[in-house]
Amino acid sequence: MGKKFTDMNLRTADFIYPYFVTGGKNKKEEINSFPGIFRFSLDRLLSDIGESRKLGLNKILLFGIPDTKDARGTTAYKEDNIVSLAVEGIKKRFPALIVMTDVCLCAYTTHGHCGILKAKSAKRKAQNGVNIDNKNTLETLSNVAISHAEAGADWVAPSAMARGQVRAIRSALDKNGYNKVKIMGYSAKFASNFYGPFRQAANSAPAFGDRKGYQLDYNDAEAAIKRIGDDIREGAGAVMVKPALAYLDVVKQAKLRFKHPLAAYNVSGEYSMVKYGAKSGLWDERKMVFETIGSIKRAGADLIITYHAKDIARWLRE
Ligand code: PBG
Repeated sequence: MGKKFTDMNLRTADFIYPYFVTGGKNKKEEINSFPGIFRFSLDRLLSDIGESRKLGLNKILLFGIPDTKDARGTTAYKEDNIVSLAVEGIKKRFPALIVMTDVCLCAYTTHGHCGILKAKSAKRKAQNGVNIDNKNTLETLSNVAISHAEAGADWVAPSAMARGQVRAIRSALDKNGYNKVKIMGYSAKFASNFYGPFRQAANSAPAFGDRKGYQLDYNDAEAAIKRIGDDIREGAGAVMVKPALAYLDVVKQAKLRFKHPLAAYNVSGEYSMVKYGAKSGLWDERKMVFETIGSIKRAGADLIITYHAKDIARWLRE
């Protein structure tokens, strides 16, 4: 008798499904390079979340696409910012859904970087023309996190890779009475080539330079493990490795080293490769998804953030 394949015992509760929310009404815009993923206005988002709930998904990660941007990313935390409005609407309709929000500035700044930039005259040497003002960035990220917490987010997920972002946000949340709101740190986030479709979705590509000054060198697993340790000490309720598939060695090391909830982000480029391959007839989408996502679970991820989550949930029910 042949050995039965187990599909790694994937469970719908292992998954976090990302959503992009934009302003306006009755919008469901497909994104060119990102098959099956949309930018939703809040009304359409609520109906799509309804479908996800029916499939048994119980965690989402929310990204906002604001109407306007400026150099300091103020639309990320102003009153009634796109994410806070969406969180309020979602929580009203789906109180039991676990809502996580991305806390970053790249979609909200005209320059497209994840933090506030220093004035050109600043002394510190810029990395590829990019000079982040860390102190200012931490203050702004804290404001963003508080605005999401106020709206009812269960988790905030800082992805700006600013030094000390977890500590700064933890202390700001606690000072404002949001002790119950947890932080998922994008702890080991690499300066990766796999983010292309996401940047098109969020309209968040850097206008100049790159993110190598603040995201991690993809050859440096040691730095990644160190940053995960830092985030745990700073108060992260969960830590993350991102991307996932090209970094399973890091996922595995993190799992063995730390006894802490561990997420892996199966990012937009990883997802699109599988999708485009399936569209071209190179492989069967479902089989490829189970193999790749199963490998992330096998490496040790407790939670998997993936754009395949709705499909997986559907397939697990068949
Ligand atoms: C924001 C952010 C990025 C992703 C998640 N949060 C992109 C980036 O750093 O440019 C990428 C996610 C994906 O590719 O699916 N900083």
